[in-house]
Amino acid sequence: MTTDDLVDTRHPIDATDAVGIAGSFREALSHFCSGVVVITAEDADGEPTGMTVGSFTSISLDPPLVGFFAGSSSTTLPRVLATGRFSVNVLAEGQDLLARSFARSGTDKFAGVSWTRSANGAPRLDGAHAWIDCDIDDHRVIGDHELVVGRVSALIVPAPTDPLVFHRSMFRTLGPLS
Ligand SMILES: Cc1cc2nc3c(=O)[nH]c(=O)nc-3n(C[C@H](O)[C@H](O)[C@H](O)COP(=O)(O)O)c2cc1C
Repeated sequence: MTTDDLVDTRHPIDATDAVGIAGSFREALSHFCSGVVVITAEDADGEPTGMTVGSFTSISLDPPLVGFFAGSSSTTLPRVLATGRFSVNVLAEGQDLLARSFARSGTDKFAGVSWTRSANGAPRLDGAHAWIDCDIDDHRVIGDHELVVGRVSALIVPAPTDPLVFHRSMFRTLGPLS
């Protein structure tokens, strides 16, 4: 193979091509892989609520802040905001069915799911790789999503398992390079 074989002949899509940008946005961004978490909370009626999120990120070490972006149409988001607290369940490999079920709006997401209540009331899903309890520290609307920033109040890492990974619309697991 020569270097000529490696030249990408596709044309860049610039911001003046709104239709092109919209059509290629998901495809381009799908190449960025993420971990998978389920954001959970106890809503104002004492009911468990939650949604699958790939946009989770660490933000600050001092103070300890994390965050995620939720679509403005999410039915979970207002319930989380109303409580002022949430937990991050970092999913482990093998929890892809859980991730799929918490991504389905309008369903009983907790049916058949084993969980315990954290000190902040939010469900901790059994088998998760880590749990991070947070108090909401900031909230901003950005485009068609909303940034929720949480200040970490407690952390548990129950087992050193491998994480669940999402890449190009598929759930994957980590594998060694050699
Ligand atoms: C791997 C994966 C990652 C996702 N990441 C996000 C995300 O970061 N933000 C978001 O709003 N939705 C995300 N979703 C979609 C939500 O989980 C989905 O819209 C969910 O049904 C919202 O539920 P709700 O309407 O009950 O809140 C993701 C889905 C999957 C499968």
